[in-house]
Amino acid sequence: MSYKINFNEPIPEMIFRLEKEHRHFTTELDRSVSLLENNQKDAVDILSNLSSKIIKHAVEEEARLVRIIMEKAKAESEQSIHVMQEHNYVVDFIKHKLPELHKLQSNDLHNEIIKFVKALKEHFLEEEETVFPLALRLAT
Ligand SMILES: [Fe+2]
Ligand SMILES: [Fe+2]
Repeated sequence: MSYKINFNEPIPEMIFRLEKEHRHFTTELDRSVSLLENNQKDAVDILSNLSSKIIKHAVEEEARLVRIIMEKAKAESEQSIHVMQEHNYVVDFIKHKLPELHKLQSNDLHNEIIKFVKALKEHFLEEEETVFPLALRLAT
């Protein structure tokens, strides 16, 4: 799958859209967790249905927000780069763990999903507190 990036979308609009996507992802992640007790197949399916949207979202953040931060504020980039590196775990989970989740025992599957959802929700918050305000300041 390829991810076409729209480099013409203004950064402020893009950040507004990314925050909206965070809220959508969070709703779906919470829905997945709420199904863990009684319907693990649907819980996994929710994550599978989100997976390409989450990867596209991350690719866009790296292509556009990391770029503007490195170009215009390299000296204050450290924390934002650290937050962006959390994409490694997210993408690794989606590409390698998620397709194998159904093979796990119920309890392990439960723990893996809880861990992923918690990490991703924390990641969204960190972006909204660190990366987005910096990129927005540099773009406006
Ligand atoms: Fe991200
Ligand atoms: Fe994000």
